[in-house]
Amino acid sequence: MTAKTKRSPKIICISSGKGGVGKTSFSVNVATALSQKGKAVLLIDGDLGLANVDVVLGLNVRHTIRETIEEGRDLSSSLVEINPRFHVLPASSGVPEMANLSYEEQALLTSSLEEIIDRFDFVLIDTAAGIGDSVLWFNTWSQVNIVILTPDPTSLTDAYALIKVLHTRHDRKHFHLLINSVQSKKEGQDVFANMSMVLERFLKITPLTLGAMPQDKSVSMAIRQQRPFLLGAPESKASLEIVAVAERIMNL
Ligand SMILES: Nc1ncnc2c1ncn2[C@@H]1O[C@H](COP(=O)(O)OP(=O)(O)OP(=O)(O)O)[C@@H](O)[C@H]1O
Ligand SMILES: [Mg+2]
Repeated sequence: MTAKTKRSPKIICISSGKGGVGKTSFSVNVATALSQKGKAVLLIDGDLGLANVDVVLGLNVRHTIRETIEEGRDLSSSLVEINPRFHVLPASSGVPEMANLSYEEQALLTSSLEEIIDRFDFVLIDTAAGIGDSVLWFNTWSQVNIVILTPDPTSLTDAYALIKVLHTRHDRKHFHLLINSVQSKKEGQDVFANMSMVLERFLKITPLTLGAMPQDKSVSMAIRQQRPFLLGAPESKASLEIVAVAERIMNL
């Protein structure tokens, strides 16, 4: 099946509040897993100021989202094919003033994206760290909000801050938590239970779990090799869990 057939994609946003918790690594690998399962996937690099996805995949980027919008070009000319079922829409790197979208740019981006997304089953968005305008915009444009956190307490507070602003200012109610870099299943369950308790108590939100990714050196090695760990180390603990997470995402 090619990525040309008309579909109605599920749009999924991946954020965390805190930086460096594994958003890009997760996004690239879950996109790879979904494509291996026969799904047509578009991964958008939503980190408009400090591109991530192209680095993790070792891509040569010709046009960025920002240039394409500014020049009024069709976004499909910016798509990079990783394999016939996996495409990436890259962002621009090292341009901090590009990090946030103006209201007009948001409207342009929406209409440009809507022209290209119906050839995919899944649209994943890897967002920037923090709770800036573009992070909030990508989250509200999506149907599914995945929030990544680690056992680090600062990650919990930043994830809480993100969920709070999305809930109180943008009326989002459903959140899927992915716990990353855990030492054991039990640690993953404890972090999820802790976060659920805080969300229920202060925001009356009951989050869902997508699973817990183990801390695994194949993840950091894969980033250095600029290749998904699912391809470089398919039998690693991280790869087995990412396949399970992809299956859960397909059933959402
Ligand atoms: N499960 C894991 N096991 C081991 N290392 C991990 C794991 N997940 C992420 N890392 C490491 O954490 C670092 C940050 O990962 P990544 O770039 O995916 O985070 P990020 O949330 O996208 O960061 P940023 O907020 O800067 O965009 C990488 O060096 C990666 O190797
Ligand atoms: Mg990143």
